[in-house]
Amino acid sequence: MPTLLSNEQSDYWSQVAQSFVWRKKWEKLQTGDFHKANVEWFVGGELNITENCLDRHLEDRRQKKALIFEPNNPNELASFLTYGELHISVCCFANLLLNRGIKKGDVVCFYMGMTPELMIGILACARIGAIFSVVFGGFSPLSLRGRLEDSNAKMIITHDGGFRGDKIVPLKQMVDEAIVDLESIKTVLVVKRTLQEISMKQGRDYYYDALIKDAELYCPAVTMKSEDPLFILYTSGSTGKPKGLLHTTAGYMVHVGKSFKDVFQYKENDIFWCTADIGWITGHSYMTFGPLLNGATTVMFEGIPTYPTPARFWEVVEKHQVTHLYTAPTAIRSLEKFGHEIPEKFKMKSLKVLGSVGEPINDEAWLWYHKYVGKERCPLVDTWWQTETGGILISALAGITELKPGYASLPLEGIEPALMNEQGVEIKDLVASGNLCLKTPWPSLARTIYGDHERFIQTYFTTYPGYYFTGDGARREANGFYRITGRVDDVINVSGHRLGTAEVEEAINEHVDIVESAVVGLPHPVKGQGIYAFVVPTNNVVDSEKLEKEIRDLVVKIIGPIARPDLIQVVDGLPKTRSGKIMRRILRKIVENEIENIGDTSTLLNPEIVEIIIKTKKSLS
Ligand code: WTA
Repeated sequence: MPTLLSNEQSDYWSQVAQSFVWRKKWEKLQTGDFHKANVEWFVGGELNITENCLDRHLEDRRQKKALIFEPNNPNELASFLTYGELHISVCCFANLLLNRGIKKGDVVCFYMGMTPELMIGILACARIGAIFSVVFGGFSPLSLRGRLEDSNAKMIITHDGGFRGDKIVPLKQMVDEAIVDLESIKTVLVVKRTLQEISMKQGRDYYYDALIKDAELYCPAVTMKSEDPLFILYTSGSTGKPKGLLHTTAGYMVHVGKSFKDVFQYKENDIFWCTADIGWITGHSYMTFGPLLNGATTVMFEGIPTYPTPARFWEVVEKHQVTHLYTAPTAIRSLEKFGHEIPEKFKMKSLKVLGSVGEPINDEAWLWYHKYVGKERCPLVDTWWQTETGGILISALAGITELKPGYASLPLEGIEPALMNEQGVEIKDLVASGNLCLKTPWPSLARTIYGDHERFIQTYFTTYPGYYFTGDGARREANGFYRITGRVDDVINVSGHRLGTAEVEEAINEHVDIVESAVVGLPHPVKGQGIYAFVVPTNNVVDSEKLEKEIRDLVVKIIGPIARPDLIQVVDGLPKTRSGKIMRRILRKIVENEIENIGDTSTLLNPEIVEIIIKTKKSLS
């Protein structure tokens, strides 16, 4: 059976887990396997993750900064919370939740801008055993509603409005839209930020600052079993609606805490800045839990890289003496556009380590980041992982592993990748390309898709029985280094955000004048991938420009601005097999400008359409 841990792996994980605070030690290190998709870790153990993130640091680090908050507007003062203060803030928030009737196992949703209350809030949930579900503020009210319904959330926490560059996002108004007639939501908690006018519904909506005043300063951490749920995080899959990946307590904690320390080679006085939003897994694992589990100082930034100028990142690095900068290739590429003269003006002497995450980093962006930001003296770690994996699985260790642009490099200790060939068999040769799987369990693997375990099994464990399938392709070199080549399924990665093509198609097909559509990833110089939509209209359409605009608006309404198509091509038909299946592979080749590799189209139902599509193909201007 390929899923059993080796003795080395067992010893390794037992030893790692011992460095955490347990109320009761585990009885069994790991149970279950990838055949049954029933993996569990540290079974029988009891703990609370916030005790590991906060209480245990109080003796030595009470006065140490835990969180530095850099607001959207550079003229607004930055603020910070020490470990002592963060502990009290989390306790108060936890008591507020208890006072509002939230109990262990209840789901609390967060739909907020990036301010300290978001981090405090999720820790408060963990303190009392409530399951938190953070939904990125860039999702539309309709998307939010779907997630609230799916998770049966009892409470939603939001801001009046969120600052994002020179824009204000009307978060409370969006929540109001999302929860019309949604019975499960008993409380809406509003944190004041923009101070804009909002409507408050009596008996349902409360201001955070009004309730927090009555909250006690101490809240005991509830005892959690190792496998008790910690959070749900929604992500897109290749089919249907978004999946709520469920992570549990102990395994998530152990791997995230340890991988943070190892990959970034964290040292006591380092200042760690992860630029991701907490709405994504990176913000959970390496802005919040990874740093706090290690007693580190973590930086939270409310704004965007280009506001008020494209020098903002570098200003923040110098202002807060950041030692570790962990960001996404799309952010680097968006800054690269403005020229290297900008980061060259900043010495950024404090920087020691750079990190990249979320999508393959192209050589040009890697070299730019390494040269102009890291001044060729900071190791740049390209970290590969997923919402499902909870923490980093393949990455260089900063300053230890040799660096090679474009290579995530080696699996972390305890992690065992495998490459599969087209016949579904593991490739044993060292040098190989194939579909990337994991062969043995690791602690922070998601345990299920909330409310749909069958889909969990189908998505990750049936393609290659006995293995966890990542959905990514990879190449392995003679030195064992892995290069991640990107998704091999119908998921596209837009600015590091995962979107299912089926999800976007479903939204487009809601338009009354659309018969059908096909969405594929478009190579994009900044976003990595953009969205290219082929749409087939009914005969009623005369003004295709108007149609395109309506489609864009519709997608924004249904999914959110992150899914707005970059290019829309109106076509009379889509290439189909004789059984009527849309040949997305052909469309992908057309969009990727690989027309010579389209292959034989003569067996299609409608081969003539391919030529027409090629002739009328659109390009980014
Ligand atoms: C992609 C983000 C190449 C990959 C942590 C994966 C990467 C998906 C890298 C997960 C990397 C993430 N190099 N590709 N270093 N990191 N990816 O769930 O396709 O938002 O499957 O998690 O992003 O995206 P997710």
